[in-house]
Amino acid sequence: MKSLTRKNSLRGTLTVPGDKSISHRAIMFGALAEGTTTIHGFLKGADCLSTIDCFRKMGITIEEKDETIYVHGKGLHGLQESKEILNAGNSGTTTRLISGILAGQDFPTVLSGDASLNSRPMKRIITPLSMMNADITSCKDNGCAPLVIKGRPLKAIHYDSPVASAQVKSCVLLAGLYADGETSVTEPALSRDHTERMLRSFGATVRSEGRTCTIIPPKNLHGQHIEVPGDISSAAFFIVAGLITPDSEILIKNVGINDTRAGILKVCEAMGGDISYENVREEGGEPVADLLVRSSSLHGTVIEGDIIPTLIDELPVIALMACFAKGETIIRDAHELRVKESDRIEIVSRNLLAMGADVIATDDGFIINSRQKDEVPALHGASIECAMDHRIAMTFAVAGINADGETVITDSDCVDVSYPGFFGQLEAL
Ligand code: S3P
Repeated sequence: MKSLTRKNSLRGTLTVPGDKSISHRAIMFGALAEGTTTIHGFLKGADCLSTIDCFRKMGITIEEKDETIYVHGKGLHGLQESKEILNAGNSGTTTRLISGILAGQDFPTVLSGDASLNSRPMKRIITPLSMMNADITSCKDNGCAPLVIKGRPLKAIHYDSPVASAQVKSCVLLAGLYADGETSVTEPALSRDHTERMLRSFGATVRSEGRTCTIIPPKNLHGQHIEVPGDISSAAFFIVAGLITPDSEILIKNVGINDTRAGILKVCEAMGGDISYENVREEGGEPVADLLVRSSSLHGTVIEGDIIPTLIDELPVIALMACFAKGETIIRDAHELRVKESDRIEIVSRNLLAMGADVIATDDGFIINSRQKDEVPALHGASIECAMDHRIAMTFAVAGINADGETVITDSDCVDVSYPGFFGQLEAL
């Protein structure tokens, strides 16, 4: 449990933990590569530890020495059948990406997770994998995990994905590693492209043309050194905290600013946020910068369309930011929020309403208003329910330091899923 009260200023420098999406992929691709992959900046959050656990159960040696992770890859055909069920915990990325890999093995696997994970939609990967001739079934026949995947030879396909989801795209591309020809995926809007970038660095041929990407099954992948940049989805909480808390100046170092992830920076700019980029560079095939964030006078905006997949995980904290912006903010086309670790439209709006915000939940987003024209209403403290959803806990910690009275977050430990150390860093500012 955490209790938060108003802070009148946030000042300091911090480094956010490594990117969750990149950390997962570094373990997975390292396991499938020949030779050793070394990973620096790996996120030791519960989700990525679930990925490590799954690959250890399939015979991969993964060690940690001096803050570097060593993955001793066994090649594309080196995984072994797990004696136990693979437990993906709370992690949708582990589940959906690993399913693509498991579909092409020559052994069966059962894959399960916690209550939240086992209620999230898996039909979105069962459909394309079945088109590839995979044998994948939902144990309870409800389109959710637990999943039984009996690996077998796969057919190459072109898949027109109905959702802009990097997890779906990556699942199909990873199954494509084992298919009998070129596999391609077209998505309705471009989602994060870490799989494409990293597979290329491991030696695979992956073509990206607009919203379509294509993989040619490689003979093998080669172990790499991966520098994991700071996670912009974690930086998001401090970006918003810096913008909405008065008298604040926060330098967030080493943040990944890949275009397919950086929608929040465009939205902050559109809302009048003062963020400057310092030391812009490229590390390990990903663009990185230090972000200097200062308190700003914000105004409402409309967030919709192709930008949504580039800020999908940041929408809870963006919705909070909108409560501190003059005028109206509309967020639409974000129906995917309803199938994340929790129904984030329902839970964000419920908690914001409890704190006195003017917010309407819509089917695919939010309408957020200042209560009176040109006047930003103050939020007041509340008891926050976060349904064990890490991003909800962190969003409402930022809300709590900008509200009158006390805000209590009961399931606050769930931040460990993606950001162990979050509360300590917030306190230090
Ligand atoms: C992720 C993709 C996104 C995101 C998740 C991580 C990934 O999910 O919400 O936190 O690493 O590929 P979707 O692909 O389902 O949108």
